[in-house]
Parts: sequence; structure tokens; C-alpha cells
Amino acid sequence: MIKIAILGYGTIGSGVVEVLNTNKESIAKRAGDEIEVKYILDLRDFPGDPMEDKIVHDYDVIAEDSEIQVVVEAMGGVEPAYTFVKRALLAGKSVTTSNKALVAKHGAELIAIAKEKSINFLFEASVGGGIPIIRPLNSSLTADEIEEITGILNGTTNYMLSKMTFEGLEFDDVLKDAQSRGYAEADPTADVEGYDACRKIAILTSLVCGQQVDFEEIYTEGITGITAVDICYAKAMGRVIKLLATSRKTEEGYYAMVAPFLLSSQHPLYSVNDVFNAIFVHGNVLGDAMFYGSGAGKLPTASAVVADIVEIAKHLHKNILISWSSRKLDLIDCKKSQNAFFVRTKDGREQVREIFGDVEFVEAEGISGETGFLTKVMTEEEYQQKASGLENILQRIRVV
Ligand code: HSE
Repeated sequence: MIKIAILGYGTIGSGVVEVLNTNKESIAKRAGDEIEVKYILDLRDFPGDPMEDKIVHDYDVIAEDSEIQVVVEAMGGVEPAYTFVKRALLAGKSVTTSNKALVAKHGAELIAIAKEKSINFLFEASVGGGIPIIRPLNSSLTADEIEEITGILNGTTNYMLSKMTFEGLEFDDVLKDAQSRGYAEADPTADVEGYDACRKIAILTSLVCGQQVDFEEIYTEGITGITAVDICYAKAMGRVIKLLATSRKTEEGYYAMVAPFLLSSQHPLYSVNDVFNAIFVHGNVLGDAMFYGSGAGKLPTASAVVADIVEIAKHLHKNILISWSSRKLDLIDCKKSQNAFFVRTKDGREQVREIFGDVEFVEAEGISGETGFLTKVMTEEEYQQKASGLENILQRIRVV
């Protein structure tokens, strides 16, 4: 019997209990032993809940119980999650977490402690919800130099942009809907401003390059500036707007960015809708690979957490090597990255042509009194310099 403790009985924590109950027998078979939830740490009581008697309010009970071999961190946020997880690892307990904020900030250190103690710190659910991406990067794609990772890594914003596109709904209404479905973070600012996707691409890039990528250094734009008018233009161009998180290896180094992009129907991520996430990976020998699935929500995320518990059970006193050192990787400045841009401005076509040269003008049904156009591919720096020559830019969205 492997005894575990769950920190946090919210959406993910209760999902873990549900998954462990639903697939009890097959999980035990795959783990090589039965998994028993001994404690659940939460500030609240849950009268009438079947797990009521497992609830504890004091973390010491868990940290000091030598029977607990695995701690499942499902609280979210950096503190007190970091303190609790570090203490568990130092006490020789393996940990799995779905907490991208924790992994992005302290992943390297927690991985190092787990290695030192011959135990494991796993975090499959921290990126892509139920989609396996951490384990594939760590153990299946190890023959490659990964040259690009581009993903739709936030279910809430993908759900919102899909609803805005297909149902013509307004931003605020779709946000409420996404929250009610349990997709959004406690504070949905992290979703809509791109902070959640930023932490996830920081984690993936750290795994790919084996060094610490500081999420604070990743250029990040969210979707709060995307309007129904932008969606109309996207439709007129046969494109969709998606929040992409991307990192690329170039000859000068790595750069990473989170921003809304206009995707053509040829793009592999064009058809990824609703709460689904997908991660496109390009390796120098593999070529292209895509990982697609449920990117947020109770059971998909819990599925990945429980898969980590099984993996830990299979490696109880053996560390699974994760190459992610605390040595910092300096990202290259995004100003050097190249894109085409879609621009909306109050300036006229003549003025646009004078500054941007040969552009493609775009007309959208029902929109007047402004000029929409697509630029050629240019660096961010070049775009900024040209754009400063226009007086009334209403919007600019990168195009891939
Ligand atoms: N709020 C996150 C999302 C949850 O919408 O993708 C999964 O990390």
C-alpha cells in the first residue's frame, strides 16, 4: 500500500480522489501496489464528504508521518506550496504537482533536491492539463535538439477566443462561462493576461534547454485587447486568433514569447478549439510532432497528476533524471524575432503605403472608418520603428 497526502481539496485535489476511485484497480495494477489517500490538507472542513475523515488542517501531520511516501500538491500559487513541497522532499517524500507557478519559479531547485534524495518531483499536469508533454520531452524526444515549441497552453483563453469566434459572444460573458466550468485560475487575470501560458512555456523551454528560463523575461501579451472587430477581420482573412506561447532555438540563442497570433488554416494549431490545448514540437531529427488534448479542467488535470503518482510508485527509491539545472538561460531579445503584422489604424491607405510600402489591405464586412492591412515579414524592431510613423493605430496582431 502506498500512502499519499493531497494538499488542497479544490478542483484538482478532489479530481485526484475521483480518478483514484474511478480507476482504482487498473491504477493499482500499473503502479504495482494500491494507492491510499491518508490525508487531505485544507483550511476548510467538508462535512458529509466521503473524504471528511481524511481532512487535516496542520501540515506537520503530513510532513512528520513516515508512512506518507507521496505528496500531491494541488493548492496552486507559489506560497505556501513551495515551503510545503520543499519540506516534503527534504523529508524523503516524492511530490507531484499541477502548479505551474511553483514549477516555473522553483522547478530547478526542487528537481535537484529530489535527485539528491533519490526520490521524484514530477509535474506532468503543470503544462497542457491532461496532455502528456513533460514526460515525452524528458524521456521520448531525447534524441533531438528541439528547435521550436509552439503551443496553445491556456484552456480558458482558447475557450474564450473560440466562443467569441463561433458564437459572436463578448469577452466578459465568455470569461464567466469559462470560470463556471472550472477552467480558469482563481484569479483569471493569469489566464487572460497570458501569465499562465508564460509560466508554461518557461517550463517547457527550461526542459528543452536544460537550464533555468526565468518567466519574468518572456515577452507576454494576453487577450484582453482582442475585440469583436478583430475577430471580424480575422474571419475576412480566413484566419483565427489564438493565444500562442512559443519558444525557438536560433543561432543566436533561444527566444520566447506569449501573444495573440492570427493563424492561417494551414497552421497546425488552427483547428484547436474550445478548452483544448495543443503543443507543436519541431526537433532537428524528428521533424514535427503534435500533442493535443484536454488542457484544463478537473478530471483531465487529475488524470495527469495520478499518472505521476503511478510513475512515482514505479520508481519509489530511484530518481528519474530531469535535465533542468539552476544555471540561468539568457533569452535573446524578442525585438530581433520576425513576424508579419496585421494592423488596424485610423490613418488612410496613402499614409500606410508611404510608411510600410507594399502592404495587403483587408476589408471586413460592416467595418468602416478605419484601415486594416497586413505587413510583410519584418523584425519587431522594424515594425515598431515604422508604426511610430502612423498616428492612430487601433490594433496590431502578429501573423503566422
Ligand atoms: N487556467 C488554466 C487554463 C488551467 O485555463 O489552461 C490549466 O493550467
